[in-house]
Amino acid sequence: MCGIVGYVGSKEAADILISGLRRLEYRGYDSAGIAVFSDGEIAVRKEKGRLSDLEEYMKSAGTPYGNCGIGHTRWATHGEPSYANSHPHSAGRVTLVHNGIIENYIELKKDLEKGGYTFASETDTETAAALLDRLYKGEPIKAIAELTRKIRGSYALAILFSDRPDEIYAVRRDSPLIVGLSNGESFVASDIPAVLKYTRRYYLLDENEIAVLKESGVSVLSLEGESIDKEVFEANWSLEAAEKGGFEHFMLKEIYEEPEALKNTISPHMIGGLPDVLNLSLGDKRLAAVNKIHIVGCGTAMHAGLIGKTAIEKLARTPVEVSVASEFRYVNPIVDKNDLVIVISQSGETADTLAALRLAKKMGAYTLAVVNVVGSSIAREADGALFTSAGPEIAVASTKAYSVQSAVMYLFALRLALVKGTMNENEVAEKSAELAAMPKLIERLIRDLDPTCKKLAEQNKNTESLFFIGRGMDYSLSVEGSLKLKEISYIHSEAYAAGELKHGTISLVTDGVPVIAIATQTPLFEKMISNVKEVKARGAAVTLVCRTDAAIADDVYDNLVLMPEISDLFMPLALAPFIQLFAYHTSVIRGCDVDKPRNLAKSVTVE
Ligand code: F6R
Repeated sequence: MCGIVGYVGSKEAADILISGLRRLEYRGYDSAGIAVFSDGEIAVRKEKGRLSDLEEYMKSAGTPYGNCGIGHTRWATHGEPSYANSHPHSAGRVTLVHNGIIENYIELKKDLEKGGYTFASETDTETAAALLDRLYKGEPIKAIAELTRKIRGSYALAILFSDRPDEIYAVRRDSPLIVGLSNGESFVASDIPAVLKYTRRYYLLDENEIAVLKESGVSVLSLEGESIDKEVFEANWSLEAAEKGGFEHFMLKEIYEEPEALKNTISPHMIGGLPDVLNLSLGDKRLAAVNKIHIVGCGTAMHAGLIGKTAIEKLARTPVEVSVASEFRYVNPIVDKNDLVIVISQSGETADTLAALRLAKKMGAYTLAVVNVVGSSIAREADGALFTSAGPEIAVASTKAYSVQSAVMYLFALRLALVKGTMNENEVAEKSAELAAMPKLIERLIRDLDPTCKKLAEQNKNTESLFFIGRGMDYSLSVEGSLKLKEISYIHSEAYAAGELKHGTISLVTDGVPVIAIATQTPLFEKMISNVKEVKARGAAVTLVCRTDAAIADDVYDNLVLMPEISDLFMPLALAPFIQLFAYHTSVIRGCDVDKPRNLAKSVTVE
């Protein structure tokens, strides 16, 4: 989700910025840039692509020499990866880099344009630079404090003022920043690995605090300009561990990032308490006329589509067909020009999904991409795109992307329900508020579920085969649980619609065979318990996952996992960390390569 670094001291800033950005490239690599005070002026170098592209560019454009500067590696959210959209951005006396999303940038931009500001990029960041320039009357703290009052959304900013050479200002809300401390030099960064080569001592910058970095040291001030005493932390991680934020694996880190990813995805798509997921070219009128929806994707992305199907059919009473992209292409699909085809992809480059999108376009349907990477082929070729803001997903097994794809499906279903009139505005607003509250709840839940999943993994580590069973949305979730377990722990697993087991598969359930029964959907609970009893009677070792208030006899399960009171509709968002953490711990205990499971690759660009 973009990486920021800043340095002031007596060494060459450009070298330190580049080395810091290299450690932050995991946060995004759509473009990179630096700004350095050089001979009394701010010199900016930036380039689309990876850090190596910037380094190559600087060989010809020249490296700016100086002892104070800021740098950025971008993960595109507003505007495609391009030179113009790369950070740093400058306006008047201000040059800055930004991580996060400024939600009200359009209204701010319009206002700034009226005041004579012009913009070279499509980014929200350039608006912040222009607004800060307008507010700046020679007093940086006052101007930054005023800026924080005017902008909404999440941000971490590192700022240079052209008339304050060799000083860096930093401020944050909802996006991380640390301040590195050392004798005769100071650092600011999105994450510790960026500075670990130079110092292990750091402050964690809190919200509503402004850090002022100089060669002589760092002061942290309140928005009112009062000095704040900060606790000094000491990092004791190795560089490699630090890149994973102290987590043992990227997969675990990414599961723990789900609350933030959900928040970053849901909030920009919510206006006035209602979901606003419509790309400009697909207005409410066209949406209201849609008779049928096809959802197409591969693997985990397609599984998020299964959640979408249930949500859309339940809330908006519009029929949905979910297809595996590699099948959709070759079954001569029946797609009408009044149909809507939604393709879901984290990478935006999956070959089968891209081909399915092209086919749907050729057949005249409106194509909508739910995609994580701005500037990817799928994002560019679809008629409209709804972006998920999961940040870079590095572990091969998809986790946070699944959650945010499901969240976008909910937002879309709610909007469709509103335009189709199957729900009124109050009902949609109520459900939307519930969805917006999910990230906080999931944050707590992940911490609670982690040890439970580890214990379950220990119990099941030697099993040859395991079954997930569920009904309705619990079944959709089970399919993803089974995929996750197979792909990273190499244990054979099947997901079954609980009522379908007795039509064949139950013959595989014998003494001690583990069955994870997910039973959170209220109207289906009693049916589920009957199915659980069926497997229990054949000797299955049952882990029952249900709501805290469910009435259950203790002879139907061996392990019990209780989920908090969340509506049936949003339960899959809460259950996602459960199935992911279970697969994760099983993989670790079995000694598998968690982040790079055998035979797999992150982005499947071949058929
Ligand atoms: C499984 C997994 C894959 C991807 C699939 C689609 O953990 O990661 O099943 O979901 O390859 O990838 P994207 O979403 O990039 O199109």
